Amino acid sequence: MSSSSVLSLPAAEGITEPEPFAGPDHPMRKVTRGVAFDGAWDAERASKVAALFDSMAADWSEDHVNPTKAAPIRDGLERGGVPLDGRWLELGSGTGAGTRVLHDRVRSLVAFDLAAEMLAHAPGELAPRVNGDASCLPFGDDSFEAILMVNMLLFPSEVDRVLAPGGTVLWVNTLGDQTPIHLPAEDVAEALPGSWEGTTARAGSGFWASLRRTD
Ligand SMILES: C[S@@+](CC[C@H](N)C(=O)[O-])C[C@H]1O[C@@H](n2cnc3c(N)ncnc32)[C@H](O)[C@@H]1O
Repeated sequence: MSSSSVLSLPAAEGITEPEPFAGPDHPMRKVTRGVAFDGAWDAERASKVAALFDSMAADWSEDHVNPTKAAPIRDGLERGGVPLDGRWLELGSGTGAGTRVLHDRVRSLVAFDLAAEMLAHAPGELAPRVNGDASCLPFGDDSFEAILMVNMLLFPSEVDRVLAPGGTVLWVNTLGDQTPIHLPAEDVAEALPGSWEGTTARAGSGFWASLRRTD
């Protein structure tokens, strides 16, 4: 039987409440839960999600690459007990909001996204960019010591497969529970196979959760 636990740390300084934006009835919230808990993902859905983000790529960085949204990523790197000297994979890296924070703090980094246009607008000099679907990752078992997901759908079995034993999942929602692609820290731990433990904290307008498998 799996049993996971997530300890809440004090909020970082300077947190802000996110504006009401995407509550539990947001269509992407339902997709997020369906993917994480029921494997509700197929080629048709992948194609629709890729088209959606491709259409937003040109303007994405204007709204999503800023210090407030980067705050939970920075705080998670500082207080989440993450392996900075490890190999990192960023899933759903988009136009590089996470990549810009991570690239010079970790041993190595691969930026991975479904939407080719999102990747095309990411800074290619900071990390190799790989276009593909996180439901079937083109990496071997145990390839990374850490996986970052910022406002990204959770594909539990693939995350678990490519993560090396003792590795860390760093989950970030930059608008907290107002993020369209949102799962609370406890639900991330529950959706992943096996037992996990870690920490979570609010920072900026969002939160991070750092989780390590314990079985
Ligand atoms: C809400 S955006 C977040 C982008 C970036 N992390 C940020 O915070 O600015 C979600 C990203 O996940 C990507 N994505 C969605 N489903 C994916 C999948 N199955 N495999 C890889 N990337 C995916 C989308 O293309 C999009 O770039």
